[in-house]
Amino acid sequence: MSSVKFGKLDFASPILVASGTYGYGHETKSMVDVNGIGGIITKSVTLHPREGNPPPRIAETSSGMLNSIGLANVGVNEYCKSKLPYLNELNTKVIINIAGTAVDDYVETLKILESAGGNHVGYEVNISCPNVKEGGMSFGVSAKMTESLTSELRKCTSKLLIMKLSPNVTSIEDIAVGAENGGADALSAINTLVGMGIDIKTRKMKINTTFGGLSGPAIKPIALANVHKVFRAVKIPIIGLGGISCVEDIIEFILAGADLVQIGTLNYREPGISIRLAEELDLYCRDNNLTSISDLKGLAEYR
Ligand SMILES: Cc1cc2nc3c(=O)[nH]c(=O)nc-3n(C[C@H](O)[C@H](O)[C@H](O)COP(=O)(O)O)c2cc1C
Repeated sequence: MSSVKFGKLDFASPILVASGTYGYGHETKSMVDVNGIGGIITKSVTLHPREGNPPPRIAETSSGMLNSIGLANVGVNEYCKSKLPYLNELNTKVIINIAGTAVDDYVETLKILESAGGNHVGYEVNISCPNVKEGGMSFGVSAKMTESLTSELRKCTSKLLIMKLSPNVTSIEDIAVGAENGGADALSAINTLVGMGIDIKTRKMKINTTFGGLSGPAIKPIALANVHKVFRAVKIPIIGLGGISCVEDIIEFILAGADLVQIGTLNYREPGISIRLAEELDLYCRDNNLTSISDLKGLAEYR
């Protein structure tokens, strides 16, 4: 298995499953040996439970999907009671994705998770949510807001702190630097892109909220460009994601500057894809005399 160093941690496989696309890990346990996955990033949890947006909140597109789940989740207290015990028993690395609408929400959520004492190795912070106190602008579009949120969260945990970047910004480099300056250990790039679909028979929007997040193979070149921009802007490690569907995609992300990768949308087609691709990645390393896939980090050459 191609194990990979990531900060202070060793990941048995560089392929993790992305937040919101693998539930809390137990949904697939009858189909997949979840301990074979490099890591599970659980779906965003917020301070209070959320119903999410009304349906339809998912629509298929060519080479991807639109979603507007609206952060439906059980809330952090119920998460600690009913989800953490199962996650604590896993032999794979668990990273808890948190979301909020104000700095205090994020901080409170993190503190509750810290005091629950789980075996999780870290947190991924979804900063694509609106900041209520700043009038609805998302944290992820402002370098200043990203830096101050990161530094507040940094004070609350010594576990891995990963800020998840949105591509829906003018300069992803500025946001990445804000997170690095705030004390983030690592960055994930990217979250979904804004998209829309119309049913031409009914002339209605395919998604109840009109706009949704586009994910899947359609976004891969955009994700790759964003990962490379981030790689050129910061020194901290990067988890690349967006549209990964095959081993060649993973190698491209590593060459662009990623240390680890996540698979999201493709889990819906094949829940065991991250395990199959880890095996294929091992074969690639063996065939190309690499001790680890990390040997290729950032090696893409300019013409
Ligand atoms: C149905 C669905 C739900 C998602 N929910 C979350 C979420 O709760 N938190 C989050 O940070 N990202 C969420 N995402 C974004 C993914 O984690 C990922 O960033 C994005 O889908 C791009 O990767 P992919 O193209 O491999 O799916 C969700 C994506 C999908 C498709």
